Amino acid sequence: MDAVICIKNRMSIRAFTDKPVPKKLLTEIIDTAKWSPSYKNSQPWEVMVLSGKKKEALSNMLLDLQEQGEQPKPDLPAPESWPPREQDQIDHLYASRKEATGLDLNDPKIIVAAKKANFKFYKAPHGIFLYQEASLSSWSLFDLGLFAQSLMLAAHAKGLGTVPQAFLTDYAPQIKKFLHIPESKRLVLGISIGYPDLQSPANQLRTERMATEDFVSWQE
Ligand SMILES: Cc1cc2nc3c(=O)[nH]c(=O)nc-3n(C[C@H](O)[C@H](O)[C@H](O)COP(=O)(O)O)c2cc1C
Repeated sequence: MDAVICIKNRMSIRAFTDKPVPKKLLTEIIDTAKWSPSYKNSQPWEVMVLSGKKKEALSNMLLDLQEQGEQPKPDLPAPESWPPREQDQIDHLYASRKEATGLDLNDPKIIVAAKKANFKFYKAPHGIFLYQEASLSSWSLFDLGLFAQSLMLAAHAKGLGTVPQAFLTDYAPQIKKFLHIPESKRLVLGISIGYPDLQSPANQLRTERMATEDFVSWQE
């Protein structure tokens, strides 16, 4: 697949078919993502792939924690507020979602339901966690972001769908314990991955982007 088409056509997939992805293909995608650049080639990425019973058990644990009203404790706290420029984009996304699905993401009840769907990995057959040593600098977080994008693009090029999920890190201490990830690591991102169910209404909304001239300046 042409790189430009791959970047422009990737979208977050929130409904998947049951078909599992062969381990060989998941390995190939991770093998591709590792060619991402990183500060001094430090390669500050660690990857955990979950499938089958283990993924289901983790999912149940997250749903139970949510049900019990356990306070989320992500290693990277969710932003409490946004500057106006970024808040405008979020408002725009929520308005389009409401128009497309009737669901208002500002409604606390909808947030609870949305988190449930996240904790179920949107029914994807596999989940991937990205983590790294917590003492690493912000540059390494940046590098892990590059790795995440490469992984999602490599998956898309192979006909797979992905969605990056901060919500999947809500219960970071419990997840790390469950997956035997040392406490010294920070859990940065969860990604659901599988074959996309392109007919599902969940996959019909294509997000928009700002006009390029609205965020680019040129100087000569
Ligand atoms: C760091 C990060 C965290 C995200 N967290 C979530 C999440 O918890 N749940 C979810 O459904 N989507 C999540 N998303 C997906 C974004 O909502 C999505 O990327 C954005 O709306 C743009 O849409 P697109 O990916 O379809 O282009 C996240 C994306 C990023 C990059």
